[in-house]
Amino acid sequence: MVGAHVKHRHPFTPFDEAPPREADSFAAMPIPESILPQVVGENFRHRLGTFALDVSEWLPEDPETSLTIDLKRRLLHGRRPEVVALQQGGENCAEEAAQLVGQWAGVEIKSNGIGALVDASLLVADDLAVLQPVEKSGGVKQLLLTSAVVCCPSRWMLAEKMGQDMMQVHAPVAKYAEHVGPAVDNFFQRITADKPVWRSNWIIQDHPALFQPRIPASPLVDSPKDLWIRMERQTLRRLPKTGGILFTIRGFQQPLPEYLARSKTIAQNIRTLLERLPEDVAQYKSVLRYRPQIMPWLDQFC
Ligand code: HEM
Repeated sequence: MVGAHVKHRHPFTPFDEAPPREADSFAAMPIPESILPQVVGENFRHRLGTFALDVSEWLPEDPETSLTIDLKRRLLHGRRPEVVALQQGGENCAEEAAQLVGQWAGVEIKSNGIGALVDASLLVADDLAVLQPVEKSGGVKQLLLTSAVVCCPSRWMLAEKMGQDMMQVHAPVAKYAEHVGPAVDNFFQRITADKPVWRSNWIIQDHPALFQPRIPASPLVDSPKDLWIRMERQTLRRLPKTGGILFTIRGFQQPLPEYLARSKTIAQNIRTLLERLPEDVAQYKSVLRYRPQIMPWLDQFC
């Protein structure tokens, strides 16, 4: 049963549970330098922001990999319906995606269908979401989300997104349709199996739980120093046999003050990006309420 946010500071404890005592000593890994947000252009705009990725760099390990896999194991055991989903007919794509991850990890996946995707999800820290080409009326093929194992959702619920196309999945994202909606659909035609791409995103949140499907009912902290920055490294790769696409999502988080203290450039970039966010996007990114407090406080890091 999904509950309300329990205030805590342990990313690897679900948002609605209390952390174990050993979590008191947790210190977050710095979010990898290579995915940090950059300032592009003069104004805010959602962008595809995709970069070519060498297959050998597809789903790398880091010091938080095993913590993330442990979190997945606990969720798969105790809260499976919240983190695993399959639409009827999605089995073949799920299996092909699982095989690809298995090959990457050097492990033979023996199970089938969604079971294979679950097994594959425990080999890497990344979440796995599979888009399947489905024929709609008039012979037009659309890519729909038909299978997934998502243990680190950033305030969205997997069950609500199943069976949807990209425009529908992103309906709550302010300015998505006008800025990138058609470009994403076009881009998906060009993705190949041997040339994956990656992109990243960022958001400021008042709770660090990686498993956080819900938006809190009210603000959870009083001071910007208690906020967190959360980023995702996402990759996209074609499934050559079924024509589907495997979308991987890896969540990272760091306390906001630690992140800003990394360098003046990092702090200045966040200042510029925050300043530029239109109100509706700031609201979507759940930072609108905190922005008036963050901006003057942030200057000390710039
Ligand atoms: C190039 C491809 C994509 C682009 C440009 C894109 C863009 C975005 C953007 C701008 C957001 C808002 C958060 C942020 O500011 O970053 C977002 C959220 C999201 N994206 Fe994507 N996305 C892409 C691919 C995908 C795919 C393949 C999935 C498949 C499941 C997906 C699922 C989601 C979900 C579930 C959210 C949260 C929506 C909500 O709050 O309800 N995205 N995406």
